[in-house]
Amino acid sequence: MKIIDGKELAKTIKGEIAEEVKALIAQGGKTPHLAAVLIGDNPASQVYVGNKVKSCEQVGFKSTLIQRGSDITQEEVMEIVDRLNNDPDVDGFIVQLPLPGHLNEDEITLAIDPRKDVDGFHPMNIGRMSQGLPSYLPATPYGIMQMLERYEIETQGKEVVILGRSNIVGTPMSILLSRKAKIGNATVQLCHSRTTDIPGHCRKADILIAAIGRANFVTADMVKEGAVVIDVGINRVDDPSKKRGYRLDGDVHFEEVSKKCSYITPVPGGVGPMTVCSLMMNTLKSCRGEVYAKN
Ligand code: GUN
Repeated sequence: MKIIDGKELAKTIKGEIAEEVKALIAQGGKTPHLAAVLIGDNPASQVYVGNKVKSCEQVGFKSTLIQRGSDITQEEVMEIVDRLNNDPDVDGFIVQLPLPGHLNEDEITLAIDPRKDVDGFHPMNIGRMSQGLPSYLPATPYGIMQMLERYEIETQGKEVVILGRSNIVGTPMSILLSRKAKIGNATVQLCHSRTTDIPGHCRKADILIAAIGRANFVTADMVKEGAVVIDVGINRVDDPSKKRGYRLDGDVHFEEVSKKCSYITPVPGGVGPMTVCSLMMNTLKSCRGEVYAKN
């Protein structure tokens, strides 16, 4: 069994991005600029956005953090989006999710200019991705694609099972792996809350991707010998032995499953660190006009 070390791979990729940024600036290009909008006081979102801003510094990007309280109105958020859409220095921006309950997430996502949607959540980018056109790929699926590519894991002709059909992980992942492409050409099954016999589907998987947000859901009896297991879950589990009172477990029972598979991603240190790389890569693509031509 081999560990897919997301932390190390993310470090390597960030180093590569930093080199590209230096070269871009040396050729007279602008410094890539990512803006992040953080609303409310969700502790996980604060950590994620903090990591995004820190990563910008590490790769030589400019970053802007726009932070507002949870009493902000929909109109005020829409104004921020409009301002960022029209700021020529901003190459891309994200509005961190989830938003406080009174805000309309769909309206906000749709208002983001697809040319600056480095999260890849806008239907225009999802549509382009589905048709194999240049697009910003959503962070988590893009990170997983990078892992598969860099670890030279064959996907062509393989049976892939994905647990979870969310808009930001399961559904785009299923589209990417079934596309006609080098990392793709797989036969994909997307399992969800109404799927009958999830364990039966999982046992057939050459590549199993778990993104359902249930701690230790995937156990050894659900995994084929030699399968590749990608764990997207980050679940808080009460643990009085830890100073903070909890630990972070994936959707996969690592101890059991790791004995049976060929590759596995740990939690933490697996998929998580890769998602920030995806955002950096999308921002660099935007700055270079690689997805949409610059005006
Ligand atoms: N919340 C969880 N993941 C993400 C992400 O990739 N982007 C944004 N904007 N919010 C998230």
